[in-house]
Amino acid sequence: MIGNFTFCSPTRLHFGDRSMSRLPEELIKYGPKVMLTYGGGSIKRNGVYEEVLAALEATGKVVVEDPGVMSNPTVEKLYNGARIAREHDVDLILAVGGGSVIDYAKGVSASAWCDEDPWEKYYLRKEMPECRLIPVGCVLTMVGTGSEMNGGSVITNHAQKIKTEMGLDDRGVPKFAILNPRYTLSVPKYQMVSGIYDIFNHICEQYFSGDDDNVSDYLSEGLMRSVIHASRIAVRDPLDYEARSNLMWASTWALNTLIAKGKTEDWEVHMIGQAIGAFTDAAHGMTLSAVSLPYYRRILPYGLHRFVRFARNVWDIPAEGMDPESAALAGLSALEEWMNEIGVVMHAAELGVTKEMTGEIAAVTPLYDTGYRKLTKEDVEEILRESL
Ligand code: NZQ
Ligand code: ZN
Repeated sequence: MIGNFTFCSPTRLHFGDRSMSRLPEELIKYGPKVMLTYGGGSIKRNGVYEEVLAALEATGKVVVEDPGVMSNPTVEKLYNGARIAREHDVDLILAVGGGSVIDYAKGVSASAWCDEDPWEKYYLRKEMPECRLIPVGCVLTMVGTGSEMNGGSVITNHAQKIKTEMGLDDRGVPKFAILNPRYTLSVPKYQMVSGIYDIFNHICEQYFSGDDDNVSDYLSEGLMRSVIHASRIAVRDPLDYEARSNLMWASTWALNTLIAKGKTEDWEVHMIGQAIGAFTDAAHGMTLSAVSLPYYRRILPYGLHRFVRFARNVWDIPAEGMDPESAALAGLSALEEWMNEIGVVMHAAELGVTKEMTGEIAAVTPLYDTGYRKLTKEDVEEILRESL
């Protein structure tokens, strides 16, 4: 049965190679002070910075620059950003970059006027903000996380060895997003592939849970097929605009909450991946690819029906006439082949995980009971060892 839910998507999306022309009409909705947040400099090399600045100037904004958001943004950077936003009393945070920059902007939005330690309140205790939030808008330059249209914000605390998320409600979701696939053409191949696997795994996390037969499952299968198709083209020719457009659009829909509606969700691969990230600072999508197959092979017997459906509807395995376990395993083999084909990281050792670290990583991995089987810490350690 489809469960009860509310669906609200407050983000105004502008998609396509002329979408930047819509930025001024968004900017004029907010007060004069804009905090312009970006990463380590890619937007200065590919010309996006100039285009954004032109729109800010055209609308007469006072710009407070906040560069240097690192991949996997840290809690120290978050504290600093919150201080800047408060001191300047900014009216809008404009995040220009990938998931890291947008996640950070959402963190700053909720932290600037928070009376408590935001790390403790939002990220550890998972409480919702009581203070006012600064509106966030974004220009997306790297595809994968879906951060442009959701309330998630992932922050890393290296001292505590915790990489974790807060999930803001509608108030914290970006008000608008500029999605120009052309901006993603300069993303290095390793990051592009990491993002592609991130998209795919977001869909898996919502698909491999429950046994409902609902609209969300069919949408998920369509999205997965589209990602597989577009990824093959993009890996052969990273400058293929059509493929990069499809990846961008699929990525947004993979994690804007739509395909989770009416069903339970898993997210255990992400929990293990984030724990790896807390220890290694590795590219997010690659932390997921490294542990996915050992995880899915482990839970397959408990969600056999769904894995057979995955094999049939996503990978075109002729499952009829096969025994269910063989059909399900054939689906995972097809997944493995595709992962090798696009070149994701298949071994956690490549990300810096050592045999000695597996126990520590397992110890900080949250264990969810919403997938087909709740793991134990020992399971997680075994998965990590298998993935080395
Ligand atoms: O910092 P710059 O110089 O901009 O370089 C970035 C960065 O090094 C570069 N890049 C981005 N756009 C580019 C570009 N390089 C050339 N041309 C461009 N157009 O790419 C590198 C990676 O960027 P980053 O933003 O770190 O990657 P991603 O989008 O994968 O974001 C990763 C973060 O998002 C979190 C992850 O955990 C991680 O912290 N996630 C957020 C989620 C959410 N909000 O819902 C869900 C995800 O599961 C994920 O956990
Ligand atoms: Zn992810």
